[in-house]
Amino acid sequence: SIEVELARTGQTVTVAPDRSILESVRDVRPDVPSSCEEGYCGTCETRVLEGTPNHRDDVLGAAEREKGDTMMICVSRAHTPRLLLDL
Ligand code: FES
Repeated sequence: SIEVELARTGQTVTVAPDRSILESVRDVRPDVPSSCEEGYCGTCETRVLEGTPNHRDDVLGAAEREKGDTMMICVSRAHTPRLLLDL
């Protein structure tokens, strides 16, 4: 599982392997925007403040993926046990 901390509220959610980060964050923050939820529209793009995303979207280019300061939380996951997101 992945621990996701929401920087603006200090809340932490645990993302089970069978759920997306978006779904898990919505347990505590139902207002988080999304559209396609399949990694191609860019609506759920979220800034990453700490941790390394495991990108699984079709939005970001190679340089953006490498930089790792933003991610599509509907499909992408993490290479680190914890992510701090700008939410
Ligand atoms: Fe479309 Fe995440 S909701 S990329």
